[in-house]
Amino acid sequence: MSNYHIKHLEEYYQIYRKSIREPENFWEEIAEEHFLWRKKWNNVLSWDFSKPEIKWFEGAELNITENCLDRHLATRGDKTAILFEPNNPDETSEHISYRQLYERVNQMAHVLKNQGVKKGDRVCIYVPMIPELAVSILACARIGAIHSVVFAGFSSKALSTRINDSDCKLVITADGSYRGDKTIDLKGIVDEALNDCDSVKSVLVIKRIHSEITMKAGRDFWLQPLLDNAPKDGKAEIMKAEDPLFILYTSGSTGKPKGMVHTTAGYMVYTAYTFKNVFQYKENDVYWCTADIGWITGHSYIVYGPLCNGATTVMFEGVPSYPDFGRFWDIVQKYKITQFYTAPTAIRALAKQGTELIEQYDLSSLKVLGSVGEPINEEAWHWYNDNVGKRKSPIIDSWWQTETGGIMITPLPYVTPTKPTYATLPFIGVQPCIMDENGEELKGNQVDGRLCIKFPWPSIARTIWGNHQRYKDTYFSAYKNMYFTGDGALRDEVGYYRITGRVDDVIIVSGHNLGTAPIEDAINEHPAVSESAIVGFPHDIKGNALYGYVTLKESGESRDHTNLRKEINQIITEHVGPIAKLDKIQFTAGLPKTRSGKIMRRILRKIAEKDTSNLGDISTLLNPECVQDIIDEAL
Ligand code: WTA
Repeated sequence: MSNYHIKHLEEYYQIYRKSIREPENFWEEIAEEHFLWRKKWNNVLSWDFSKPEIKWFEGAELNITENCLDRHLATRGDKTAILFEPNNPDETSEHISYRQLYERVNQMAHVLKNQGVKKGDRVCIYVPMIPELAVSILACARIGAIHSVVFAGFSSKALSTRINDSDCKLVITADGSYRGDKTIDLKGIVDEALNDCDSVKSVLVIKRIHSEITMKAGRDFWLQPLLDNAPKDGKAEIMKAEDPLFILYTSGSTGKPKGMVHTTAGYMVYTAYTFKNVFQYKENDVYWCTADIGWITGHSYIVYGPLCNGATTVMFEGVPSYPDFGRFWDIVQKYKITQFYTAPTAIRALAKQGTELIEQYDLSSLKVLGSVGEPINEEAWHWYNDNVGKRKSPIIDSWWQTETGGIMITPLPYVTPTKPTYATLPFIGVQPCIMDENGEELKGNQVDGRLCIKFPWPSIARTIWGNHQRYKDTYFSAYKNMYFTGDGALRDEVGYYRITGRVDDVIIVSGHNLGTAPIEDAINEHPAVSESAIVGFPHDIKGNALYGYVTLKESGESRDHTNLRKEINQIITEHVGPIAKLDKIQFTAGLPKTRSGKIMRRILRKIAEKDTSNLGDISTLLNPECVQDIIDEAL
């Protein structure tokens, strides 16, 4: 019997050592005993980080939805798979059983097939947090289509870029979405995006907010009537282990977003196994992850990981502040949530409200609290521990990335002693290391440097869609034979890891990764702007906020700066989305540059952080004189 469920620290170390010593045997046992395969593999792992090429369970055949759905029907057919909590608490919630989910996924799969979607085709899913989002994802997986979910808060430009990058054939969307007391015109955004997307042949529209929208004849179809006519049963397409399961875009330091490609078997095994252990999931638990399925956290830990384990997973459509800041606690009480997984930015926003609201709710069902997406600061950690967990539910500060597919460094609740702001120990099978800037590994404890991973784990992304070279350059070129994470980290005296933040030009705002380049590109489209540079600065709730330095083509004196700031944020909203709006915009006569013309963000970052005591040597800059002006006029 493999150790599918780790229950104490000694066992963790023992299994960890085994997973490092004999990774193939270890993962083979897990895969063999806990999943449904149509055909077994010939080879557990082959890999070469220099190409890079990574293959897990080669030769195996399966369908991930048979693992998420079919195999539970006999024993858990009536158990709730998805528990849907709508934006408005007065609207009735929905308990979707495993059998009902199976039927809805099959119906959706038939509709997609009837629209001409075939194995390997890409389908873009631009849907809010309603059950159809999970159903659409699973339906794609069932017929072997590659889903590309785009967070339904992205703008039309961001959407069209993503649709075009992977030539999606079909888009699934809704008439609109609810967000607190607001509605968002999703279909309008899709219509605008599709003006630039030739690959899209049809659009399936879910009725959610019952708004007036335009339907383009021959292209747009209401989904419900099509579903009503579709059979509730259906065979799953047999997929190869390394067939792509989905594409999910993440921001890079430069250029357009990177379409990370995840494949089938390894992703399934790793997300299911991590879910079981990181949340210490037990059969009658009610698990809630507050992320949006538009991000990797939702893919792996709302949909695939929980469903593979036959869990009950909550999907929440709304926001933590609606109808008031007690909403999360209301949901915890209502469903007796056992595991609660959220982001530091949400914790900080809720902590700001004090404890009056939280004390009105019964949170005694909680056993495990999770945190993900950015470093959790000590204050937020303690607030979470004291007020939500009442110091009895361990906090799982889980570090991972879109690229890693699943959780990589994390405590296991009731197993690993926690330490505020530390993600603690590597998960089973994960071999992290800390490197210095010269490419040397920093061995031993009490070291600080850049976080890399030495050995493949089953759910590592296999490539960037359409650009394998960029995959190699971004992740496998900085350090020889290592996966480079882009994060800084330290290892303390007992070997615990603490993630210190990004070391590249990605800024994490409210848990969303934002590359500086696409925002700067957007700003530079403004006719009055000559150039711009974006940096992050600390923010109480968002973790980081954006500070923009903008140089105008003509001296800005004659322009109204208030209006210009509005226009700049408007352009950013259109090109990237409202999450990328700047908190501060400083107009500058010039930007500090190296002699080769590269903007020195390091200096701009320090000025934004109001830490100008040690700017380093600026005499080698092309234009050192501009630095003092920028400091004098800093916001
Ligand atoms: C950051 C989200 C510190 C990190 C799953 C990483 C974290 C990036 C943590 C990936 C954590 C995520 N502590 N930093 N527990 N979790 N990060 O792709 O910088 O949206 O590289 O994946 O978030 O963000 P992504």
